[in-house]
Amino acid sequence: MEGYLLRLAISFSMHDLSDIADWLKHHPVHPAAQAGDERVVSFSTNDYLALARHPQLVAAAGDGLRRYGVGNSESRLHGGDLDIYRALEARLGALKHKGDAVLFVTGYMANIGVLSSIVKAAALARLHGYRARKRHKYAYYSDEYNHVSIREGIQMSGALRYNYRHGDMNHLESLLKAGAAEGSTPLIVSDGVFAMEGTIAPLPQLVELAERYGALLYLDDAHATGVLGANGGGTSEHYGCYSPCIMQMGTLSKALGALGGFVAVEREVADVIRLTSSAYGYTCPPPPDQAAAALAGLDLLREEPQRRQRLWDNQRYFIERMAPLGYSILSTQTAILPVLVGEAETCQRYAIALRKEGIHVDAVQFPAAPVGQARLRFMMNAGHTRAQIDHVVGVMARLA
Ligand SMILES: Cc1ncc(COP(=O)(O)O)c(C=O)c1O
Repeated sequence: MEGYLLRLAISFSMHDLSDIADWLKHHPVHPAAQAGDERVVSFSTNDYLALARHPQLVAAAGDGLRRYGVGNSESRLHGGDLDIYRALEARLGALKHKGDAVLFVTGYMANIGVLSSIVKAAALARLHGYRARKRHKYAYYSDEYNHVSIREGIQMSGALRYNYRHGDMNHLESLLKAGAAEGSTPLIVSDGVFAMEGTIAPLPQLVELAERYGALLYLDDAHATGVLGANGGGTSEHYGCYSPCIMQMGTLSKALGALGGFVAVEREVADVIRLTSSAYGYTCPPPPDQAAAALAGLDLLREEPQRRQRLWDNQRYFIERMAPLGYSILSTQTAILPVLVGEAETCQRYAIALRKEGIHVDAVQFPAAPVGQARLRFMMNAGHTRAQIDHVVGVMARLA
């Protein structure tokens, strides 16, 4: 044992890890861990519709556990393909007005898995005997504020990549024009709702550009699915904007209360993704009980629209109550309401003060937000009571 510890110490000391570990001792970055018996009201949870503890989801997951066990222990390409996954994919496809969907273990893996591989689909299908008629040189065009999993997936793809300024369609178009002149095949990637900004992507303009430049548009609807649109269909439903060029990515771990990620596409495209994405074929899907819970979540999206109504009522109430306090809320378009604080240390101080009052709010700082624009990321949900909102606004009034 001693020899082992010595070897460990030596290998750590030869690496940045020991320096970082030392530094971390004086710069704790996880102030929000929650003890089991601590009563904290979260104003930053992704559980927008308060479904994660809903009895119907809990019962569905319990039934799933009894029927399938804790895991299915095999990738779907290799015999772990259960009927419940297919049923869930069909429902997700329908929610997104697409013929099918492909399920991944998380939303993070969906982004990495699809974006890293889709531009290499021809080369990967070649392993199975496919011969391409034409070679494409692909280029990604990505909003600068897209989620980190998008940025990593694009980087892993090895394709050309360009970032456009957040929501700036003129900038995007100038990049697309330059790419067209070079003869590359474009893929535009955007969050539907931006997690740290609370803004909604200008989908109609994105679709217009995608159709004009012959691009695919990959839309990460992690924070919009279940939240935006009369039926919780997401950004497309919000705008009434659908197009065959859109690939609709989403997650089960936010408004749907469970765990998993997906991309909803036409059936033929789904088949290509299943064949060529290693994150689908060479790792496990979400455990079957999570698929069961997500199916129950989809039922509730339809059966209890009042949840979405309550979420938006709470959102408006919070904005109204905060208005006289003089804070700057960066966007009021969605359930994500980032309150600008400025300096990271001040933002941390606010978060700690809120925590002492039994309220959790994410203190978002660089690199998740630009330097000097640290913010408290308030996220409203259907389960907040008026008394809880009054309480948090009261604490913010004192801090102001
Ligand atoms: C915009 C966006 N995309 C993808 C993800 C990843 O989703 P998941 O938590 O299911 O991995 C997140 C999670 O925070 C997100 O905010």
